[in-house]
Amino acid sequence: MLTDLLKKSTHTVVYTGAGMSTESGLPDFRSADTGLWENEDPTLVASTEALNRDVEKFFQFYRERVLGVKDCKPHKGYDILAKWEREGIVQSIITQNVDGFHEVAGSKKVMELHGTLQQVHCQTCGKTYGNEMYESEKFYCTCGGKLRPSVVLFGEGLPEDTFMQAVEESQKADLFIVLGSSLTVTPANQFPLLAKENGAKLIIINLEPTSFDPYADIVINDQKVGEVLEEMDRYLA
Ligand code: APR
Repeated sequence: MLTDLLKKSTHTVVYTGAGMSTESGLPDFRSADTGLWENEDPTLVASTEALNRDVEKFFQFYRERVLGVKDCKPHKGYDILAKWEREGIVQSIITQNVDGFHEVAGSKKVMELHGTLQQVHCQTCGKTYGNEMYESEKFYCTCGGKLRPSVVLFGEGLPEDTFMQAVEESQKADLFIVLGSSLTVTPANQFPLLAKENGAKLIIINLEPTSFDPYADIVINDQKVGEVLEEMDRYLA
């Protein structure tokens, strides 16, 4: 059924969350025990307030995440999505993830709704640097301003043009596949519904049920994303 929909679709959009990277060794945010927000309050470490009020805690929290991204690498599921793009099976990827793994694996049309940990920029002058600045604990710009990852912090809006591209892609999709997201964070969680409202088939592959499952044509809760992608790829071969 899954692969039939993939074969029949003319505009397939894949939408990924942190559950896409747990098999690479990066924690997600809301899984019981292991999720990042199970042990940290995001408003105290991942917000503009934290950047202004408790910058040392902010720096350390994000340095840990930059080191995590450098230590881990995209798993086979990422390679499959990049291959499907080359084969014309997938047209684009909308991701909430900031690890940059889709690009590392070779996917080209990727909309990073929440920015990226691969780069940092100065909160004062906007100058950009590679994330090795955080790796080597260099947290300030040559202008003296604070360096922060180029991610969307709690309290900030999403990048306008990326958001509009994701709206356009969701409206064009005739197949929209959610991989590893609790779909709890707005406005990022609106895209599956937007696709559905515009006639797309909606597939949700997530270890836990989501509040959007009732709108989905297919829901897979008992399998890891990486396993499902490998199985689908074998059927498509
Ligand atoms: N296969 C399938 N599902 C998985 C896997 C896996 N290997 N690993 C984890 N999951 C599921 C979890 O059950 C969980 O429901 O992925 C989901 C991840 O949900 P969250 O941790 O809430 O992550 P996400 O949906 O990406 O969060 C959205 O919240 O804090 C913000 O900016 C942050 O982008 C993030 C946003």
